[in-house]
Amino acid sequence: MKEDNRPKFTTKFGVIAATVGSAVGLGNIWRFPYEAGAHGGGAFLAVNILCVLLIGIPVVCAEFLMGRSSRRNIFGAMSALAPKGGRWWRFAGMLGVVSGTLILSFYAVVAGWTLEYLFQSVTGNLTAPDVRDSHAEFMGFTAGWRCVFWTVVLLAVNTVIVLRGVQKGIEKVSNWMMPLLFVLLVMMAVNSLILPGAKEGLSFLFCPDFSHVDSSTVLSALGQAFFSLSVGLGTLTVYGSYFPSRTKIVKSASIMAGLDTMVAIVAGVIIFPAVFSFGMEPAAGPQLVFEVLPDIFRQMTGGGIWAALFFLLLLIASLTSTISLSETGVAFCVEHWNLGRGKAVALTLGIVTFFAIFCALSFGPLSGATLWGMTVFDIFDYVTSNIFLPVGGMLVSIFVGWIVDRATVDRELRPASRFIRRSVIFLLRYVCPVAILAVFLNNLFG
Ligand code: PHE
Repeated sequence: MKEDNRPKFTTKFGVIAATVGSAVGLGNIWRFPYEAGAHGGGAFLAVNILCVLLIGIPVVCAEFLMGRSSRRNIFGAMSALAPKGGRWWRFAGMLGVVSGTLILSFYAVVAGWTLEYLFQSVTGNLTAPDVRDSHAEFMGFTAGWRCVFWTVVLLAVNTVIVLRGVQKGIEKVSNWMMPLLFVLLVMMAVNSLILPGAKEGLSFLFCPDFSHVDSSTVLSALGQAFFSLSVGLGTLTVYGSYFPSRTKIVKSASIMAGLDTMVAIVAGVIIFPAVFSFGMEPAAGPQLVFEVLPDIFRQMTGGGIWAALFFLLLLIASLTSTISLSETGVAFCVEHWNLGRGKAVALTLGIVTFFAIFCALSFGPLSGATLWGMTVFDIFDYVTSNIFLPVGGMLVSIFVGWIVDRATVDRELRPASRFIRRSVIFLLRYVCPVAILAVFLNNLFG
């Protein structure tokens, strides 16, 4: 493989920290618990793990190898790896770049909420003893300009990191943020495990009751696997393009998926024992983290500190994901339009900030601006999670399984054994496209 001047992650640890940093985010700590809570707990987890193993890991390998073999972003990778006459594949890459921009626009809003909740925890307001209504607090905050303010602050911090580049920005920040995140996770999990009603929460998460499994469980578990693994839009292709040539692709994909799933499980171990211990409702939906948890922290000894630690955890997890989402657009601008990194960052994050402000205002001044009953925020979320990501993931699996030269795929997957290489290719060719098509159609028409 040719080595070039493209920046590379410098260490094995850096590769793992950056890829796990991208995968671990709001998807694990905010989305997984409420999805699992709504779909019966243990059964959802079991199906989710199956989806990660059979569909998630092969598509992650596919994205990594597209990036590493072409040394380009997804748009460039698809043009470079498609055979002659297959140039329209580039447009599949374009879809990824657009998805990245749209996801970042609403993701930054939720990540901005974590800044507000961190601020309120540190100042003691969140857990102040006077009786209050967490739902009203949440609605009041998201309806106001403070929400826009925190979104912009988050994007500014993100911009500073991304501007510093692959090694001094992304890799360096991930190298210290990820271990810190793991320490915080373990501390919080231990605290939850010693709560009086912990057992009930644990059996909700770990004892699957398969009578709860229906097609909607399977489909949301697959959707969750995709969002959480950051696949389907080329983020992992860009990161793959920064892999040194010695990086083992199948091994890295498995470590990333394993740690990502573990963090989701630990987030469940933090949240469900607390929910059951304080008699709350596990199926509260997206508000679980922002409305149910503050109620719990208020009743807990040392609740203010635990609240601050929890929202700090959520913030760190979100930031390493937003930098990976930004890099998807930045790499495209640098390579396709030959912009310098500074200009590419300014352009990408300028567009994202513009959209993000509209998303943030969707809960207040723009709540009436709807299309088919959805606000701007809802539309961005819906279109990306339900349409762009599944279509993107399916195209990536078809592209690598059927279109890219087989010898290239095989070479990139080495030194994995012949059995593993064949299994990955088999899954990419037959299992992933069909399964993803099922999710896609169900989400659209189900
Ligand atoms: N995987 C991230 C999370 O779980 C979200 C994400 C999606 C990041 C797509 C990058 C690309 O929060």
